[in-house]
Amino acid sequence: MNQERPASMSAFWMPFTNNRDFKAHPRLLVSADGMYYKDVDGNRVLDGAAGLWCVPCGHNQPKIVAAVREMIGQLDFAPTFQMGHPAAFDLAEQLMEFTNHKFGHVFYTNSGSEAVDTALKMALAYHRARGEGQRTRLIGRERGYHGVGFGGLSVGGIGGNRKSFGPLLPGVDHLPHTHNLALNAYTRGEPEHGVNLADELERIVALHDASNIAAVIVEPVAGSTGVLIPPKGYLKRLRELCDRHGILLIFDEVITGFGRLTTPFAADYFEVEPDLMTTAKGLTNGVIPMGAVFSKAHIHDAFMNAPAGIELFHGYTYSGHPVACAAALATLETFREQNILAHAASMQQYWADAVHSLKGLPHVIDIRTIGLIAGIELAPIAGKPGARAFAAFKQAFADGILIRVTGDIIALSPPLVLEKQHIGELFGKLATVLKHLD
Ligand SMILES: Cc1ncc(COP(=O)(O)O)c(C=O)c1O
Repeated sequence: MNQERPASMSAFWMPFTNNRDFKAHPRLLVSADGMYYKDVDGNRVLDGAAGLWCVPCGHNQPKIVAAVREMIGQLDFAPTFQMGHPAAFDLAEQLMEFTNHKFGHVFYTNSGSEAVDTALKMALAYHRARGEGQRTRLIGRERGYHGVGFGGLSVGGIGGNRKSFGPLLPGVDHLPHTHNLALNAYTRGEPEHGVNLADELERIVALHDASNIAAVIVEPVAGSTGVLIPPKGYLKRLRELCDRHGILLIFDEVITGFGRLTTPFAADYFEVEPDLMTTAKGLTNGVIPMGAVFSKAHIHDAFMNAPAGIELFHGYTYSGHPVACAAALATLETFREQNILAHAASMQQYWADAVHSLKGLPHVIDIRTIGLIAGIELAPIAGKPGARAFAAFKQAFADGILIRVTGDIIALSPPLVLEKQHIGELFGKLATVLKHLD
């Protein structure tokens, strides 16, 4: 593999990237192991973001690498339309086990965006299968991120992601976001204030009538918008209201799934059970693209009473790709063998203490932590939103730490296998960056 600078960087139109700025000042990664990347100049870069929230077990896990190599040599592709292969079924059973059998079935996709669109379509088709086909309205939340498909974009609530793409899906409403710096700044875990924001669902129900509403979708912890942790009791209240009105509750666990909060899923952490749950990223430790929608048995079973034939006209060529299944099976094994959830739990307090020690540094206006996640919000430069955090991101990379920024918020989500010395290195270097930021 090429470990040198590419001859030209012009042809690759990079996603979610300031292409012109990047190509003038590139950051190129050429290898990864454990908690570190290595860049093209041979510098080590500590991974404070698990890539893009997707490498919970750390890089280059031997079991996962070996499983992928073996499966490619054995079964490079197999369709899952009207046929299958054993690994897809074995993985599904093991995933049910990983949820403690709170879910009955799993549908494979290739990304979080596809998982979200799949879950939204399942919700619509579920109501129709039960004779309530008029339940078509979907409810998302302001500042929510549910990927970039038209469904996910429509229920998503980040203005910058939506503004260029027309009217999106009709029949979508948004709950208010839960960010409230005046009341909730510098919290560890769930903030005290804001449970009442879930009651806004009643307002939407009053407007449209519950009989027209299919589903509510939220991220249990909103990640891409800059780490918004649900207020105490908020998710339970949403669950109660959805139950009262026959509305499905979908948790988008694309970043919170697979241990980010030290439990298998955020649903376990918050003790709230959604009807459908979307996942991706950590499912294969980021090694091979894969997403999955977890379904409660009653959702799935509603489809199985239809006349004989295909029950759900939906799926992807690569749903349950054998190599992705092999990676996911090996990821689950790695979680078990290396006790990764227990290790993450043991680091949680130390992590939170380290993050909150940044309070008082220049420009820092809020710090919020939960599980192995941190959001550090900076005051924006007047008239240049996002510029301060982006400058921090670039300097941090130059200093050997990978952080993620969104707007003026630094979002941290390291591999769950990190040790105290990595936390020390990450926040030692980040403090230096913040002290020298304009
Ligand atoms: C909550 C959530 N949903 C969906 C997605 C989209 O996932 P993907 O980029 O794999 O399509 C993301 C990606 O960050 C996410 O954070």
